[in-house]
Amino acid sequence: MALSQAAAFVEQKILGHDTNATTEQDITNPGRDRAKYADPSGETMKALVWMGKNTVEVRDVPKPRVVEDRDVILKVTGSTVCGSDLHLLHGTVVQLEKGDILGHEFCGEVESMGKDVTGLQKGDRVVASFQIACGDCYYCKKKQSSQCEKTNSNTIENGMYGGRTAGMFGYSHFTGGFAGGQAEYVRVPYGDVNLLKIPASVPDEKALYLSDVLATSWNCVVDTGVEKGDVVAIWGAGPIGQMAAEFSLMNGASRVIMIDSNWRLDYIESKYPKIETIDYSALPKGHSVTSRLKEMVPRGPDVALECVAGEYAKGWAHYFELQLGLETDTSEIVNEMITSVKNFGRCGITGVYVGYCNHFNIGSLMERGIRLIGNGQAPVHMYWEKLLKMIESGEIDPLKMVSHRVKMEELAEVYYKFEKKEDGMQKVFVETKFSAPAAAGSPALTTYKK
Ligand SMILES: NC(=O)c1ccc[n+]([C@@H]2O[C@H](COP(=O)([O-])OP(=O)(O)OC[C@H]3O[C@@H](n4cnc5c(N)ncnc54)[C@H](O)[C@@H]3O)[C@@H](O)[C@H]2O)c1
Ligand SMILES: [Zn+2]
Ligand SMILES: [Zn+2]
Repeated sequence: MALSQAAAFVEQKILGHDTNATTEQDITNPGRDRAKYADPSGETMKALVWMGKNTVEVRDVPKPRVVEDRDVILKVTGSTVCGSDLHLLHGTVVQLEKGDILGHEFCGEVESMGKDVTGLQKGDRVVASFQIACGDCYYCKKKQSSQCEKTNSNTIENGMYGGRTAGMFGYSHFTGGFAGGQAEYVRVPYGDVNLLKIPASVPDEKALYLSDVLATSWNCVVDTGVEKGDVVAIWGAGPIGQMAAEFSLMNGASRVIMIDSNWRLDYIESKYPKIETIDYSALPKGHSVTSRLKEMVPRGPDVALECVAGEYAKGWAHYFELQLGLETDTSEIVNEMITSVKNFGRCGITGVYVGYCNHFNIGSLMERGIRLIGNGQAPVHMYWEKLLKMIESGEIDPLKMVSHRVKMEELAEVYYKFEKKEDGMQKVFVETKFSAPAAAGSPALTTYKK
């Protein structure tokens, strides 16, 4: 049994769940208990399922049903793939089981709902938040929805972190075990809290990204504290880094410098000519990201934003430490951030880190007064209404990061292409049989199967 599945087994069968959750745990596929979780009609749907480390497949699985009175069943009209899905694909985030349906960013149409759902009607177009919030616990009342206390009862997460996050769609049993939205239908617990209505003037191709990437990038920028005139350096030019760059400029940054190692830097430059870049793979011998940043900015940037993740080692030392299980995350990027920023500079971590790292430069952090901020899983409910208004007014155009439109049936191939950064893939829009025709400005459909 691979590590990820073994961890799920130990947690569920030996340690057991806590009793805090007010919504059922471990419904990662309606087929786990057809009598309780599958639609009585016997209808099936296509869904992307995890089948073991580095393997995902599109399979026919049972359509979900209303299980609890505040559930909403959505016909999915759009979903996407996130850098976070790669951590699941790689098995870096633990506690997946074979057959778990993935996908935490999706929008759709209300198909049916439990008797206690308020404020929604059949046929409403809605976008889901990636986290499942109850709406009235201590954290939900403060709109810190990613830390909801009532939707995840996982004991391993609680023990390892000294507290736990909310439940999340398609994000393993570590975060409650909920089937995701890379599927034709999805069950949304507390549907009245976790779905936001989409106005007729906003197409799915723009609203979808309120699920995660827009709220996450906004949180990264405002939680770390980008101020007027700041020079901001951003590690990672994927979708999260791209939107964090745009939002830094919106929040008054005077310069934004992005660090990565591939074509994504050219993609960003083509969309935002003002943004400067560093290709760390092309630095001359003896140069580092830190030395290059100090050449570009006297004393270094004011703010550093981490939009990569802890699983991607740069040097051999961390590569072997990760392989041997001596650490779960590399400290290389965080150390680069700490040593690059000005004294008393701010560093925010939004890329996913799972556990522990070695060789952390705590000396530089302490001596130079660096503020290191974990931005957390982003609290979507805190920002999504404001961000929707900004989409409506045209201030934000999420299509700037959407490079591909693909079909649900081809999602497994898309995962591997996104992972390898092939085909110029930045962010995708995944259509299903329920999707409306492509909105103006969205990319043409790409198909991979011959
Ligand atoms: N905190 C949250 O709420 C939240 C939400 C969504 C995503 N995330 C995380 O944000 C991160 C970025 O997401 P994404 O969708 O943009 O992912 P992505 O995988 O598409 O992009 C990551 C980029 O980092 C680059 N990279 C790799 N090593 C690097 C290094 N040493 N220095 C600089 N760049 C490097 C890669 O080339 C890639 O372009 C992921 O870890 C994802 O899980 C966090
Ligand atoms: Zn995500
Ligand atoms: Zn809550």
